[in-house]
Amino acid sequence: MSEKSQKTERLDIFQKCYAFTKPSEFKKMGLYPYFKEFMGVETENSPYVIMDGEKVLMFGSNNYLGLTVDPRVKEAAIDAIKRYGTGNSGSRMLNGTLDIHLALEEELAEFVEKESTLIFSTGFMTNGSLSALITRKEFGILDKNVHASIVNGTYSSFGEIKRFRHNNMSDLESLLKKLVDEPKIVVVDGVFSMEGDIAPVDKLAELCEKYNSRLYVDEAHGLGVLGEKGVGASEYCGVLDKVDIIMGTFSKSFASTGGFVAGKKDVIEYIKHNSMPFIYSASMPAPSVAAARKALEIIKNEPERRKNLLKVSNIIRDELKRANFKVYEGITPIIPVVIEDEVILCKFFQDLLVEEKIYTNPIFMPAAENNMIRISCMAIHNEEHAEILVNSMIKIGKKYNLI
Ligand SMILES: Cc1ncc(COP(=O)(O)O)c(C=O)c1O
Repeated sequence: MSEKSQKTERLDIFQKCYAFTKPSEFKKMGLYPYFKEFMGVETENSPYVIMDGEKVLMFGSNNYLGLTVDPRVKEAAIDAIKRYGTGNSGSRMLNGTLDIHLALEEELAEFVEKESTLIFSTGFMTNGSLSALITRKEFGILDKNVHASIVNGTYSSFGEIKRFRHNNMSDLESLLKKLVDEPKIVVVDGVFSMEGDIAPVDKLAELCEKYNSRLYVDEAHGLGVLGEKGVGASEYCGVLDKVDIIMGTFSKSFASTGGFVAGKKDVIEYIKHNSMPFIYSASMPAPSVAAARKALEIIKNEPERRKNLLKVSNIIRDELKRANFKVYEGITPIIPVVIEDEVILCKFFQDLLVEEKIYTNPIFMPAAENNMIRISCMAIHNEEHAEILVNSMIKIGKKYNLI
């Protein structure tokens, strides 16, 4: 290559795109596992979806309480479209605030036991509130395994970001000691999205109190799932009142899309007037708001859903462990099964889908600490579904000498 063309190549910012060949390598092997097409759900209250015209048992959805296929939630969304139309065409601050946004905020504040709440159009954007909260000469202190939206929200702030080893309280304490005289906030996932383990929110709250730090807990995967009322890991650990900000999404147990932050009135008022993803984006559409409101009502009134969810999750986790799979310990509906080799992982996923008609999620590093099949359970799964999954996994696990 001539010197001139070498220089042209180096100056072309698209060069990295041409060198990014991993997806096409997996496509050539027929093992590319992403962007699979779903064509609908089987019926109401069913964990089966339709793919390629066939019924597939869904074990890869964050629809923890099964409410996306609940007739009451669907009806609420349809009614809202009839009343408000399909979109709001504007920011909350200008023409995009509906009476039902305010109603949902009030209902959520009461549910999570905080003074005030603010809803955003997605959960990802909700964690953008951290960029407003952390400013110059202030510190965001994050667990190493927090969700990408927290990383994005904090790194786009003007503050300084520090990380501590996953769920490691002594590592956190040594950071807090160094920053004892600085303004700061500790940020964690209540339930970690990939590994499914729970943050020790009680210990976090104790350390934050000791070192004068605020505490922000992302309850995306805990809401509707953990705690007596279903508020999440903070409630489960008995310290809901000690957490300064509870964050949640509507894309999981709430059967919708959107998110919220909840905390002291003045803090929420500040976020409302300073958070870019809140101010400069169109508000959450009415059908999504109505679906989330109906889901909240069901979460409050039907605790048996989360009981069944945790029961089925534990059956699957125990059975897979008994079969000698490398399964993460835990109690949540997220069950990661480690499969180190990425080609075997793709083959395992593909066999489960094509031969057994079961959908799970293949996850690769660095999205998680290990390469894994991530199983997600729903309240509409029963013991029979659990048995189908476990038997299929044992069959394929033996084929690839994983067990
Ligand atoms: C812990 C956590 N926070 C935030 C989000 C973003 O939420 P959403 O997908 O609703 O935008 C997710 C999504 O997976 C998540 O797992």
